[in-house]
Amino acid sequence: MKSFPETANIIQQRFLLCTYISNIMVKKALKWIFLSLAIALVAIQFYRPARNENPTTTANDIAIAYQTPQEVTQVLHKACYDCHSNNTKYPWYNNIQPVALWLADHVKEGKEELNFSEFGSFTTKRKLKKLKEIVEEVEESEMPLESYTWIHNEAKLTAAERQLIVEWAKALSLKISMQEGGAQ
Ligand code: HEC
Repeated sequence: MKSFPETANIIQQRFLLCTYISNIMVKKALKWIFLSLAIALVAIQFYRPARNENPTTTANDIAIAYQTPQEVTQVLHKACYDCHSNNTKYPWYNNIQPVALWLADHVKEGKEELNFSEFGSFTTKRKLKKLKEIVEEVEESEMPLESYTWIHNEAKLTAAERQLIVEWAKALSLKISMQEGGAQ
């Protein structure tokens, strides 16, 4: 039998050897993880989601279908159309992934909820529902999304602009329910 100090010494040596080997393995694993991430990041740059770009304003656009006042159209264009129309003005960083995917997702979701370019084709019920939602969202400063105004400073609405949109949406809602109310 070996004496106690001798055994302790052997255990200590083995322990040091194990730590040394596992350190090398962790470093190798980390290197591989970083390398794979870097390759993945480069690879996804080649993926280009379809762009939402149709610069001509068509007859179903709310501006044409309901002769929206010029100042209202201006506010909707600068603060809402990037996500709620068929024509997004893309920033330069839309060329970088995964940013482009994130933007494409916002546009898709935003258009599904409300598309100002198609407003004229909605049923009366949907038009009224969307106008009501616009009043709520704008009054409560929920729209435009904060992640958007954080970068698009010009899309931050002033109190006067909010009031303009709210009053316009309420008036249009009244007009539509009077003109088309029976035809739901
Ligand atoms: C950065 C993109 C973006 C911008 C800009 C934006 N929206 Fe939205 N909007 C969305 C998304 C995404 C949704 C769906 C998810 C949600 O409700 O948050 C949505 C939902 C909505 C809805 C439906 C909410 C509900 O009650 O379900 C309304 C109404 C709306 N937006 C109005 C507006 C108006 C008006 C503006 C401009 C003043 C605007 N949005 C600007 C992305 C945007």
